[in-house]
Amino acid sequence: MRMSVIGCGYLGAVHAAAMASIGHDVIGIDVDEQKVAALEAGTAPFFEPQLPELLAAGIKSGRLRFSTEMADAEGCEVHFLAVGTPQIAGGHAADLRYVDAAVAGLIPYLRAGDVVAGKSTVPVGTATALVSQLADSGATLVWNPEFLREGWAVHDTLTPDRLVVGAEADGAGERAVAVIREVYAEAIAAGTPFLVTDLATAELVKGAANAFLATKISFINAMAELAEASGADVTLLADALGYDTRIGRRYLGAGIGFGGGCLPKDIRAFTARAEELGRGDAVGFLREVDTINLRRRDRAVSLVVDALGGLVFGRRIAVLGAAFKPFSDDIRDSPALDVAVRLRGLGADVIVTDPAAIENAKSAHPQLGYTQSRDEALREADAVVVVTEWDEYRRDLTPEHAGGLVRGRIIVDGRNCLDSDAWRAAGWQYHGMGRR
Ligand code: UGA
Repeated sequence: MRMSVIGCGYLGAVHAAAMASIGHDVIGIDVDEQKVAALEAGTAPFFEPQLPELLAAGIKSGRLRFSTEMADAEGCEVHFLAVGTPQIAGGHAADLRYVDAAVAGLIPYLRAGDVVAGKSTVPVGTATALVSQLADSGATLVWNPEFLREGWAVHDTLTPDRLVVGAEADGAGERAVAVIREVYAEAIAAGTPFLVTDLATAELVKGAANAFLATKISFINAMAELAEASGADVTLLADALGYDTRIGRRYLGAGIGFGGGCLPKDIRAFTARAEELGRGDAVGFLREVDTINLRRRDRAVSLVVDALGGLVFGRRIAVLGAAFKPFSDDIRDSPALDVAVRLRGLGADVIVTDPAAIENAKSAHPQLGYTQSRDEALREADAVVVVTEWDEYRRDLTPEHAGGLVRGRIIVDGRNCLDSDAWRAAGWQYHGMGRR
C-alpha cells in the first residue's frame, strides 16, 4: 500500500520505518530539512532502539523515502498525520498549529477516496473540525491514536496492545476503516484487538490512557509520601498492591515522577479541553496528579540537601541520568534534569552523566557540568543521585566500585532502582523515595 507519514518526529519516523518494514511503500514528509537529510541517509535523528536497523532496511528495500515536499504525498492511498501537539506557550492547552499546517499543506494533493489518518494526540473535537476542512477534497478522515512508548517505539508499533480507529458512521467512514484494517493486516491476523469507534472516542482513548497512566504513577508517589511520614516502604507496598490483578504492578514505580514529551503536557491539555467543554470538574483530580508529580522532584532535592547536612554550596554532586527515562535521549520535561538544575541552583557543583542524553541536556542547560563517563562523574563526589534507571547504574554499578571513586558515600535513589541492603552493607548512606 502507498502511504505518506506527515511529521517525522518520534512518532512519525518510527511509524514510517515500521510500515515500510511490513511491506508498505512509504514516504515520510517533514519541514525540517536536517531531519529529512538524516533520515534519508538512514540515520535516526534521535536515540531509539531498533530504529536505525529498520531505517537502513527500509531505505535499502526502496520502500522507504523521506522528503520535505508535501507534493510527494500525492498518489498515496493513506496519509498519516504524525506531527507534534506541544503545550501552548503560557497556557495548558495543546498547540494545534502543526496539525492545521499539515492538513492545509496536504489538501492540494489529496484525491477523492484517500484516507487521512490522524495519529497525533489531539484534544477531543479536533477531528470533527478537520472533517469539514477536508470535505472538498473527497478524502475521508479517521483517527488512529498511537500508544507507543519511547524506548520501545518499534516494538509497540509493530506489536501494539490494541489498534483503535475512529471514523464517521457512513459509507465513506466504513471504507476508510477497511483501508486501515488492510494497513495493519499483519498485526490483526496475529490477534491484535481492532476497535472501531466514532471520532471523539478515538481521540479520547489516547488522552484517557495517558491520564490513567499519570494518575497511577502519582497515586504510588502519593503513597510514597505517606510511607515517608509513617516509616513504611513504598516498594513493598507496590509489590503487595500489584499482585492484585485488578491493580497490577506496572506504572507503580515510585520515584521522582513522570516526565517526557507526552504525559505532562497531555494531562494538562486534557484538563484544558475538559474545561472548554464545561466539564473541568470531572478531571479536576489531574491537577493534583500534576502537583504530586512535581513535588517528588523537590523531595529528591531535599533528600540530597539533608544528607549533606544542609550544606550543598560548592559540594560535588554526581547526577546519574538526564533523560526522562532509560533507552531514550529525550530530555523534554525530564525530572532527572530538573533535579540536577535545582541542585545547581542551590550552588552545588553538579556533574551530570547519561549514556544517551548528554548532548541534548548540554544545549538545554549549559550551566551544568557534564561527562560521558559514569566513573568520571562519580570521582570525588560528595553525594550521588540516581535519577534515570539506566542499566549502567541500576544493574552494572556496584556499591563497592562506586565507593572506590567517591569522596562521600551518600546515595539518593530517585528511581528506587537499587538494592538498598547491598548499598548499606557496603557502607553507604542510602536514601530511597518513600523507602525505609
Ligand atoms: C507515554 C505512554 O506510556 C505511551 O503509551 C504513549 O503513547 C506516549 O506517552 C505518548 O503519548 O506518545 P512515554 O512518554 O514514552 O509514553 O513514557 P512512559 O514509558 O510512559 O514513561 C513516562 C514517565 O513516567 C517517565 O518519566 C517514567 O520514568 C515515568 N514512570 C513510568 C514512573 O515514574 N513510574 C512508573 O512506574 C512508570
